[in-house]
Amino acid sequence: MNRTITVDYEMNADILRGADGYAAEAELHYAALLSREMPYTGWVEYASRLTEAELTAVESLATEIRGKCTVFVVIGIGGSYLGAKAATEFIGGGISGSPRIVFAGFNLSGTYHKRLLAEIKDEEICLCNISKSGGTVEPSIAFLALRELLTEKYGETEANKRTYAITDAENGALRREVTDRGYGSLVIPGDVGGRYSVLTPVGLLPMAVAGIDIRQVLEGAKAAASAELTNAAKRLACVRRSLQDSGKTVEVIGYFEPCMASFNEWILQLYGESEGKDGKGMLPVSVGLSRDLHSLGQFFQEGNQIFCETLIDITEMPEDIVVGADGGFYAGKHMRSLNAAVRTGMIRAHRSIDVPIVAMKVSDTSAYCFGLLVYFFELTCGVTGLLMGVNPFNQPGVEAYKAEMMSALK
Ligand code: PA5
Repeated sequence: MNRTITVDYEMNADILRGADGYAAEAELHYAALLSREMPYTGWVEYASRLTEAELTAVESLATEIRGKCTVFVVIGIGGSYLGAKAATEFIGGGISGSPRIVFAGFNLSGTYHKRLLAEIKDEEICLCNISKSGGTVEPSIAFLALRELLTEKYGETEANKRTYAITDAENGALRREVTDRGYGSLVIPGDVGGRYSVLTPVGLLPMAVAGIDIRQVLEGAKAAASAELTNAAKRLACVRRSLQDSGKTVEVIGYFEPCMASFNEWILQLYGESEGKDGKGMLPVSVGLSRDLHSLGQFFQEGNQIFCETLIDITEMPEDIVVGADGGFYAGKHMRSLNAAVRTGMIRAHRSIDVPIVAMKVSDTSAYCFGLLVYFFELTCGVTGLLMGVNPFNQPGVEAYKAEMMSALK
């Protein structure tokens, strides 16, 4: 089977004609990304530039961690945890087993962290603090609480052996702590921003600890750099740009399999933080289907038509159920076929009122397809942002709340 991504456009011809008008400019932006002259474009060819030695270093560290713990706590926020979370939930329809991967440091909830500490205290624990800057408040606070548990449980020396970090090669408080305490560590490449870092050690180490074949993830990413898929990503970027011209200010991104929920969260960060600038961009909203057709479905059908939709379907899922003999009309049908009918029904109902729809399919939930999806969306996002005239690789707007938070604490 050819594992790939397909994209169909169910929308009026004028939006697609508008997209045609951006095609030449998209090629120029794509060439600029490949040239790597723009800051923070190290992700563009990262998978093919990664050396065997670098890959083996990630795998060796993962093997060491797998041998030591039953729970691996990944501490990070934004781009420093969402990709890994998305991978562990998507691949194989969800990874379970030992070590269990849990996440911390993406909120400042005392209740969340107190309960996490209680839940894991009797397990064999390893921690991994992931932060490019090495000083972000949420993961720093969570790390302190988790380190306290670790030193109480194992003593300082063993706690240091069970603490890992992924951060900048030289700068930041976390790198200094790595040097002082001898934590095992990997490097976040300086030319890759947080939300584009899932295919670097940031995402690869937690994936490898979870038992995911990271070589397959990287093979998928390399395949997404093929002419066929980069053309598809550029086309999608042009369509998303044209949708904005047509007045759409919200992009509803829907998934039909729950294993995609965190992947959608990752897309929200990627699109929202990269494109929402200078008063521009479409607000990305994630919907789980068919669940949200029983709530937001009313708005979609009869509310303010400010939105377009991107629907992401998975062709082959690992498991299925057949409806039992008591199921009446539904008896003998596969749940998968009912889920497919939801998708068809949603597209027909929303097209009847002219909602523009991008209908995507990815082949399956393999590690390879995860790599395909990540690179495809990163490229789509980068080119869309450049077509909009914004810098898709910075995030100056996220500083405002931090400054206000600090003054609220004084
Ligand atoms: O995309 C980004 O740059 C951000 O979302 C960061 O990933 C996030 O703020 C976490 O930053 P750091 O890794 O420095 O702790």
